[in-house]
Amino acid sequence: MSQFITKEKRTHYCGQVGLSDEGREVVLFGWAQRRRDHGGVIFVDLRDREGVVQIVFNPEAGESVHGEAHKIRNEYVLAVKGKVRRRPAGMENPNLATGQVEVVISELEILNESKTPPFSFDEEDISENVRLKYRYLDLRRPAIQKNLILRSKLAIATRQYFNDNGFIEVETPFLGKSTPEGARDYLVPSRISKGAFYALPQSPQIFKQLLMVSGFDRYFQIAKCFRDEDLRADRQPEFTQIDVEMSFITEEDIMQMMEGLMKAIFKACLDKDLVLPFPRLKYADAISRYGKDNPDIRFGMEIVDLTPIVKDSGFKLFAEVAATGGVVKAIKADAAATLSRKDLDGLSDFVAIYGAKGLAWAKVNAADWTSPIFKFLKPEEAAAIGRALNAREGDVLFFVADAPKVVHDALGNLRLNLGKKLNLIDPGALGFTWITEFPLMEYSETEKRYVSTHHPFTSPFLEDIPLMTTDPGKVRARAYDLVLNGSEIGGGSIRIHRQDIQARVFSALGLSEEDAKSKFGFLLDALEFGAPPHGGLAFGLDRLTMIMTQAESIRDVIAFPKTQKAACLMSDAPSRVSIEQLMELSLKIV
Ligand code: AMO
Ligand code: AMP
Repeated sequence: MSQFITKEKRTHYCGQVGLSDEGREVVLFGWAQRRRDHGGVIFVDLRDREGVVQIVFNPEAGESVHGEAHKIRNEYVLAVKGKVRRRPAGMENPNLATGQVEVVISELEILNESKTPPFSFDEEDISENVRLKYRYLDLRRPAIQKNLILRSKLAIATRQYFNDNGFIEVETPFLGKSTPEGARDYLVPSRISKGAFYALPQSPQIFKQLLMVSGFDRYFQIAKCFRDEDLRADRQPEFTQIDVEMSFITEEDIMQMMEGLMKAIFKACLDKDLVLPFPRLKYADAISRYGKDNPDIRFGMEIVDLTPIVKDSGFKLFAEVAATGGVVKAIKADAAATLSRKDLDGLSDFVAIYGAKGLAWAKVNAADWTSPIFKFLKPEEAAAIGRALNAREGDVLFFVADAPKVVHDALGNLRLNLGKKLNLIDPGALGFTWITEFPLMEYSETEKRYVSTHHPFTSPFLEDIPLMTTDPGKVRARAYDLVLNGSEIGGGSIRIHRQDIQARVFSALGLSEEDAKSKFGFLLDALEFGAPPHGGLAFGLDRLTMIMTQAESIRDVIAFPKTQKAACLMSDAPSRVSIEQLMELSLKIV
């Protein structure tokens, strides 16, 4: 057992030693980040979770200290005792929070040695595969520690807020029955009921609704969710939700409560004061103005509809598209003279990803446009387009003519691409916006039926219910998403609390009564035992943390994340299991 740890208690974290401690004796524990020998005097940067401080070993400290210090290598674990002193003039390090001081060591114990780490901690571009394989070392790096410390503050502020507002935290099961969030389930075989499977929850959706039926009234949970879907930079197979449900409320009440939560979180974690309420956009407006239901409203460049102007265009393609149910829309990049011909051609390839057959562009000059389509346009037509877009000399215009979905996808993504390329986004700005009045269902070409936009328990607008049989795509949902900086950080809805309406929605979704019964019969039963009006929302905690820490990848805010292939490189999960384990479960790999 270490003499040192038995005898001494830590007085400071390394990163907290400062000028106010000058002359004081301190006890520190940490990892050696770097050792430098300066002709007798040895300097070591000692690091713990709060930062780094320089410690100094003088030859006068004697063999047991100075001699021992010679053995220190990178990532050795040290216990030290010493006196804080102001660094000699000119030796301060302004890049280090503790850079005004150093600690002259009088006692040292090497608590453990370390193999040479597979990467250096100061390196900027360490391969992510190496980082994930040695995640426990990667997690020593201050940048990642900072993210996880903020995540912890976020969770604690969340619990505090909900407690202050009378919410009750309830845990719901992991081993459950498949719920319809729309992704693939992770299945867990049952040993006792051969051939039967549990599903890991895609969200606690049904359970939180049942808790409302039970009368809990205000529920929250910081819940793990599991979805077997294709992964992206902001998606993980297991992720965390801040899950909420309330009874006897309207969408207003929920939105207000959630805005309050955001305010509390941003204050606690970043000391930022959010201005409430957040702006709101109807789904249809978000699509027509930004091309997306998760618009980044930190910059303008809104999409403008030119269809009425170009319906008799001299450019035949525009006129034809307008005449056949398509739309012609455009965006304008202000003073974008820096865009070269090559950039413009590259952008055509970019919009092709979204199905656009072409991208027409125009550089606006004092009297005319430089543009492949200018010669086709009538002069009054070009003038009308210029007015509609409020175009000035030096601006660049981009046009797409196609089916509405293609136009919105193409211009919505082009807008983001240009916003980044032209540095229009202030990285410190916070663009919150609610999206409301989503469609209740969308037609799925692959499934050849209507599918829920949110989930099948979402309430339609009561006045839209007659449309359910005549024009299902037009029915609006009492659903809302919260978007921050172009990322959907949360979504929810007012639920259906009456069995008859739930049955009509199932039927519009092409779900037979038997199907509905076998899938969520227990919820349908519960709705017949006095279910209160209720609704809720869930935030993606990982995504929120990502934005707050300005992390590029969701993996940088999760302690032990999975790769793009849903694998853990450190533990090698998923892995094969023994024949005995499979036999016990009556499973066979085919
Ligand atoms: P939804 O499916 O919209 O709603 O999920 C809520 C929020 O969770 C986050 N999220 C994810 N984060 C990381 N990785 C993923 N794979 C992932 N999938 C979703 C998003 C999203 O906004 N039960 C409903 C909520 C409700 O109606 O109350 C639900 O799960 O930020
Ligand atoms: P063309 O006469 O075919 O060379 O087309 C003239 C310009 O219109 C080119 O810049 C094309 O990229 C552009 N264009 C072609 N199809 C579309 C479309 N569907 N929407 C917008 N622009 C298009």
